[in-house]
Parts: sequence; structure tokens; C-alpha cells
Amino acid sequence: MDKVSAKKLIKELTEKINYHNWCYYVKDEPEISDAEYDKYFHELQKLEEQFPGLKQNDSPTQKVGGAVLDEFNKHSHAIPMLSLSNALNEEDAYDFDVRVKKFLDTKEDIEYVAEAKIDGLAMELTYERGVLKVGSTRGDGATGEDITENIKTVKTIPLHLFGKEIPSLIDVMGEVFMNLKDFNELNEKRLKNDEPLFANSRNASAGSLRQLDSRLVAQRPLRMYCYRVGRLSGKKLSTHWQALEYLKKLGFQVNPYSQVCKNIKEAVHFYKNLFEKRDHLEFEIDGVVVKVNSLKLQDELGTIARSPRWAIAIKFPARQETSVIEDIQVQVGRTGALTPVAHLKPVNIGGVIVKRASLHNQDEIDKKDIRIGDTVFVERAGDVIPYVVKVVIQKRSGKEKKYKISDTCPVCHSHAFKPEGEAVSRCTGLNCPAKLKESVSHFVSRDALNIEGFGRKHVEQFIDAGLINSFSDIFKIKKEDMLKLERWGDLSADNLIEAIKNSKQQTLDRLIYGLGIRFIGQQTAKILSGHFGSLEKLVKATYEELINIHEVGPRLAQSLVDFFSEKKNVEEIKRILERGFKFKVVKAKSSKLQGKIFVLTGTLESLGRGEAKKLLEGHGARVSESVSKKTHFVVAGSEPGSKLSQAKELGVAVLDEKEFLKMVK
Ligand code: IVH
Repeated sequence: MDKVSAKKLIKELTEKINYHNWCYYVKDEPEISDAEYDKYFHELQKLEEQFPGLKQNDSPTQKVGGAVLDEFNKHSHAIPMLSLSNALNEEDAYDFDVRVKKFLDTKEDIEYVAEAKIDGLAMELTYERGVLKVGSTRGDGATGEDITENIKTVKTIPLHLFGKEIPSLIDVMGEVFMNLKDFNELNEKRLKNDEPLFANSRNASAGSLRQLDSRLVAQRPLRMYCYRVGRLSGKKLSTHWQALEYLKKLGFQVNPYSQVCKNIKEAVHFYKNLFEKRDHLEFEIDGVVVKVNSLKLQDELGTIARSPRWAIAIKFPARQETSVIEDIQVQVGRTGALTPVAHLKPVNIGGVIVKRASLHNQDEIDKKDIRIGDTVFVERAGDVIPYVVKVVIQKRSGKEKKYKISDTCPVCHSHAFKPEGEAVSRCTGLNCPAKLKESVSHFVSRDALNIEGFGRKHVEQFIDAGLINSFSDIFKIKKEDMLKLERWGDLSADNLIEAIKNSKQQTLDRLIYGLGIRFIGQQTAKILSGHFGSLEKLVKATYEELINIHEVGPRLAQSLVDFFSEKKNVEEIKRILERGFKFKVVKAKSSKLQGKIFVLTGTLESLGRGEAKKLLEGHGARVSESVSKKTHFVVAGSEPGSKLSQAKELGVAVLDEKEFLKMVK
């Protein structure tokens, strides 16, 4: 392709992708499939690779990040970024209205706009001729930091403005934040990876934007709601509400919890209403901002010190209070994870009495040096479980007691095991009541014993009715007992009894996998089954024996030894075997691809994606959804997505269909 046509195509693709980004992230109404989107994106990436000189400043490929900086430059704001004065209750809000009227020398009602006040980070974006030029933090109001490269990766921020009314210059201010659901997921991921947790969504957003590597920022679920226009050329706005409508037209998201109020009474009503809803919103808010709607009146009112006279933040009661840790007890989750929980002297936090707070794990306790008897700051936000922020060291008397999580499960008293390098200890008890529903559901599931018609709901029903207290009880269930329960009839009961009976003919690897031993996946179960040939032999295997198996590493070996050193588990396995299991042993296939990570992209001619995945897993490989430095091979069929270019960028080996088949067949 020549340069002229490439330029034209790049422009078309950029516009198209920017538009679909907007539909997807801002409007939340996608118009094309993900695959179609990937196709355009990949096409653009390829063209930009071929013609680096043609890469545009508003190219959507920047949404995945790229630039890595040594430090951020300073950025002076053309107009200072103001802060708000606070009202702590309704009365303060009415006083504000009185002051406004006095200043304007009027007795008439003032029209306001009330908006939820998000607890995030204030940001300014400058667009020149429709293209995002600078994104900067508030800093001290006069000077902030230039974080343009990071800002470009935020999905809800347009790189190029939309519509027919694009100004030659516009400054837009707003708040960058995370939804609570996204924040919780991010922290869960960090807990799994043993990374320090973010204390709240505000810290998570701040920590993300401070990264010097924009590729990392691109992976954080940041959003931005815009709430103000600064410099603006070529367009006249007369009210704040108009400004918000205009921002929407240009492709920005504005806070959905905003409303025009014909007087302060309506604004206070909005505040009270939102306070009621506070715990059920998608993001954390710390109050309501009330602004004079008329921009002319805003001008007249002007600013005092660093806050405008035309706006006020009516704050909600604080989310953080101090309390005393009276005790620490361990809770066992449905996966067997042991979580230490602080039992607090009851404290009212933002309208809710809090008695317990999560301490996450031993590492968190050690890092924050939390002791029984300590006075601590406790925070709660939305539906997030309250947690201990930090200890008030000054309040220590010397009588506080250090805490060490026990290595036995408080529910079933089995041994609790903390794998090397992990943050969480887990109960190894096979029949631990705290995790029974989860573990039995896994035991009967399709990849394990594959007991047809035995769904999660039935498992729960049987456990709740006391019919199942252990795995071996499954094989004792009687038809009469089932018929006493709701929703069971003659036929359905017969069918399940038959399915349970048939499961005793399953292969050994399915039984091993079904036990739910940590780190033992289907492939490892096959290898163990092939190697030992019987469960009795596997139970007796020593650490040395296990580690000598090619595919078994120290983590796996230790997990198995821990599991089988629990007497209760061995007894239960004996009981299961006594129920008349006649399992077949299937030798595992070659494990030449053991541990290799594959990513599939595009369409393969001779087999479907599911089949390819099965084949690979049969050889011990793993199939992942995204390409990273850890990926060993990317298999590219026809019309591959952006994963192919990511592979090339990261230097990951790419296989075509023929090469792939040669490897697995
Ligand atoms: S208006 C001059 N509107 O609150 C106007 N601020 O305490 C300045 N904030 O720095 C801000 N939601 O980070 C405004 N709807 C909203 C807001 C909001 C959150 C933050 C913003 C500001 C701080 C002031």
C-alpha cells in the first residue's frame, strides 16, 4: 500500500474505532461485535507499524498504553483548579444559599445544579482542534503533573472529540475514579498475586495514575466523569447544565446522579435522597456538590481564596472512625480460605453500626502491626466489607497482644496449609462443613465424577437437609430420603440414584481431580493416576517420590503431602472406596507440552477452538485468553485479532495452523 492510501485508511480506521470506543465505554451501547472491533484495531496497529510516521496523536491504539516515563513533567493550569468549601449538614447548605442571595442582592430563588461528589482525583484535560493534548492532575491548583500518557489509556476519555461542534480549544475538568466492583476485583487479583492491597478505591485510582509505565495504567479499570468546562473558544454557554449537556455531546461521560434544582430546598432534598442510596451506588461518593446554574451569576459571585462562592460541597458523614479491636477470630470461606476478622467495639460509621472488620491475612496483620486491644481506624465504603486502615500507635498502652493465625481450621480442626509464596492459609479438611457445598459441587461436576443431574442446587438442598455431610454420604443417599424433599419425584430420584451408581465406574483421575486438592488440576490428576495406578498408593506417596515425577513441582508435592497427612482425609477416602468404586486407570497422554502456555487467535480451518484447547490440555499445555510475556506460543488462524500483533511486539513465537497440528497430533 502506498503512503497516501495508508494515510486515508488510518484516518478512517481511527475515526471508526474512536466512535466504537465511545459507544462501548461511554454510551454503554456497542454497535459491533468484539471480533469486528478487534479486526479494525488490529488493522490499524498493522498500518501504524508499517508507517510509523503516520501514527496520529488521537490514535486509539494508545488505549493499551505504551510510553514508559522516568518522571512526570510539571503542568501549569491555564485557569487555577479550584477546590470547594464544605457544608457538613443541611443547615450549612441553607446558610450557603443565604450568602449567595445576599451577595447577588436578591430575594428570588436561585437555580442550582446538584451532583454526586465522587471521591476520586480531580483531573484537567486540554483538547486542541478536537485532539487530546494534555491530561494533568490538580496538584496545588496552580501547577499539577502532566500525566497525558496515562490519561490516554482511560477508556471513557475520548482521544478525539465527537460531533459537529468541536471547539478549537477546550479545557475539561472532572474526576477519575473506579467503580467499586472493579476496585474489589482489582484487590482480589492483587491478593492472589500477593501484592499489597489498596486501602480504598480512591487510593487505587491515585496509585494507578502515578505509574510511570502507561501499559500498566491501561490495565486498571479507571473511569472519568466530567463536571466543568474551563477555557472554551468559539462557543457560548449560559448555564452549567448546558455545559454538562455539551460535554456529553463531545463524547465525555458526566455523572448520572446530577439534577437541576429550582431552589436550595430541592438541592437539599437531592442530597438526602442520595444519602439514602449511598451504599448501593456503583462508586463511592462522599457528598453532593451544589452549583449555581447560571454561568453569568457564577461570574458575578467569583471566588474567595481558592473556592468559588457559587458552589458548595455538602459532605456525608465520614466513612472512617476509630474503634478498639476486642478480639481477632478466624472465618473459613467456602474455598477453605482462612480470613482473620477483627471483632470491634461497635462503632457507628456513616450511619451503620460496624462490629467486624476484615484483616485479610497474616501478612496484612504483620505489615500494619495490628494487635488485639489496639485502637484502629476503620473504614467502610459502599458494600465493601469494613476494614482496618491503620493502628493509632499513640493509643497503645503496652497491654496489646500480638496475633498469629492458628494452623488448624477453627471449623473442622484439620490442618491449615499456606503454600509457599501465598498470602492465604487454607483448610485441608476434605469434609470441612465451611466449604462442603463448594467441594461437593466440584466432586460431582462434569470434569470430576460427572454425576448427571446433580447440580449445585441439589447439592445445597441435600446438605441443608442433612443428607450429605461428607463425600462418601453421596453414595448412601436413598430414594425415600429424596422423595421427602421438595421438587423430587419418582423418576428424577431414580435417575439421580442411577447416575450416582454409574459414577463409581469413572476413571481414577476424575476421582483424584474431584477431591479438590489445591493445585491438582485435571492434567496433574491424570499424571498421578497413570503413575500410581491406585488411590491407596497415591495416599502413601512421600514428598520425594512425588517430586521425582517429572511434572510435579515442590508446590504440588507439598500440597499433596499436606492433604494426605490429614488423618480425616485418609479415613474419608477409605470410606469412598468402600462404597464399591471400580475405576479404570487411563494413562496420561504425552506431556511434551507440559506447562506451556498457548493463546489461540483467529479461526482454525480443521478444528474448532474447543477442540484445539482440549488437544493442548491433553498434552499438558494451558490455554490462556491474553498474550503476555509468559505466553510460549500464539496459534494464529485466519483473521487473527490484536493478539497476533501483541505476540509480535512481545517476541512470542507464532504458529500457523500447520505448525500447530504438527506439534499436537
Ligand atoms: S466542582 C470549581 N464537581 O471535589 C469547581 N468537584 O473538594 C471545582 N469533586 O477538587 C470542583 N465531584 O476533585 C466538582 N461534581 C463535582 C465533583 C467535584 C468530585 C471533587 C474535585 C474537587 C473536590 C473539591
